[in-house]
Amino acid sequence: MDIRKATSADVEDMQRLIQHFADMGLMLPRTIKSLCEHLQCFTVAVEDGRVIGVGGLHVLWTDLAEIRSLAVSPEAHGKGVGSQIVKALLKEAEDLGIAQVLSLTYQTRFFEKLNFHVVRKETLPHKVWKDCIYCNKFYHCDEVAMVYYTRHFQPLKQAKEA
Ligand SMILES: CC(C)(COP(=O)(O)OP(=O)(O)OC[C@H]1O[C@@H](n2cnc3c(N)ncnc32)[C@H](O)[C@@H]1OP(=O)(O)O)[C@@H](O)C(=O)NCCC(=O)NCCS
Repeated sequence: MDIRKATSADVEDMQRLIQHFADMGLMLPRTIKSLCEHLQCFTVAVEDGRVIGVGGLHVLWTDLAEIRSLAVSPEAHGKGVGSQIVKALLKEAEDLGIAQVLSLTYQTRFFEKLNFHVVRKETLPHKVWKDCIYCNKFYHCDEVAMVYYTRHFQPLKQAKEA
């Protein structure tokens, strides 16, 4: 299996994979247009020429990025594909000098194993919620906010800026 940055040839497969879980209410759907506009954010897992996993790192602020649209095709679950994608995205965040990586998720056990910590949603900056207006759970969001602290994280500095 290959973990690499997404290319335009992957977009339709990425969209199908995300749509599969969006239909189950597990994530927001993404249009082809939105995936193209943010193509540089995305990493894919590819096996035998087929996209079996996808995830994006979206930079929200100088100290904050968010993992979005993380999906692994059902037949590849439990084989470390999701972990490898998240680790690649965390490395990208470290390389970009980002201090905190956020995930809004139902998969708390999965993210805990990758050293994410549950945080109170009220502590997150407003810019995090920009895309939430497109979600049908806007008024009753039950996703859990989890944060990974990179080596750039400085607790006192970040507390002052919050
Ligand atoms: C969540 C998801 C990305 C995990 O991908 P994956 O490739 O199956 O996960 P991995 O094989 O890398 O699992 C890593 C560890 O997390 C555990 N894990 C994975 N999903 C889990 C879950 N739903 N509940 C509890 N533990 C889970 C695995 O058992 C494994 O544990 P181990 O290291 O002790 O063996 C995948 O299940 C998925 O696509 N789910 C549907 C879409 C979704 O909910 N995406 C997240 C949106 S934020």
